[in-house]
Amino acid sequence: MKVIMLGAPGAGKGTQAKMIADAYGIPHISTGDIFRANIKNGTELGKKAKTYMDKGELVPDALVVDLIMSRFAEDDCRNGYVLDGFPRTIPQAEALDAALEKNGEHVDVAVDIEVPDENIISRMGGRRACTNCGATYHVKYNPPKVDGICDVCGQKLILRDDDKPETVKNRLNVYHTQTQPLIDYYKKKDILRTVDGTQDMNKVFADIKAILG
Ligand code: AP5
Repeated sequence: MKVIMLGAPGAGKGTQAKMIADAYGIPHISTGDIFRANIKNGTELGKKAKTYMDKGELVPDALVVDLIMSRFAEDDCRNGYVLDGFPRTIPQAEALDAALEKNGEHVDVAVDIEVPDENIISRMGGRRACTNCGATYHVKYNPPKVDGICDVCGQKLILRDDDKPETVKNRLNVYHTQTQPLIDYYKKKDILRTVDGTQDMNKVFADIKAILG
């Protein structure tokens, strides 16, 4: 099963993608997590990506497409995957379709998690992320067991640099101009399914499970 998660920054794509990955036994592939790991490790890719991410801009398509194509070649992808944060532009979506078509494959479902912009701004300020294992929390809606510490690996939780309000506003603008057109792209292919992302995260997941079967 090949699933794409769509939605604004902070809509809950990562939260739901992790739940899908656990429930369906497929890998969760987040381009944002891959870039953050590269930044942490000081790689050339990480240095390039950071200049865009800190401003809330998208990393250029060419860098992202090469990166994701090499990830698909790994063994754990043979039964599919859930993509979180990719594709994010029409050229990325076309590159994905072209790569899959070469092997007679296709995307099965694109799940759009709908959350209005006003909810997003308040959500992002409360998000806390683990720089070690990538787990995410929310101080109010999904708090860790011990304040400021990751439940999974025991490392410190941080507020992401790009979760500051002025950067979130730019990320939302970038989303509306460059990523939202993907909703029509997948609607035309008849694989778009929409869920209400303002509900409790377990209810959002129940709706997604009803779609995926
Ligand atoms: P990326 O890491 O993909 O960020 P994003 O898309 O902006 O998404 P987020 O991770 O911010 O949010 P999310 O939707 O996953 O929400 P989450 O589940 O954490 O990308 C970062 C940057 O990398 C981009 O800006 C760009 O520069 C670059 N990049 C990445 N991919 C790229 C690509 N393909 N092309 C070019 N550039 C790329 O939830 C948010 C918070 O809300 C959490 O605290 C969570 O606990 C809480 N929450 C979740 N669900 C609920 C709920 N139902 N109710 C209440 N709270 C909830």
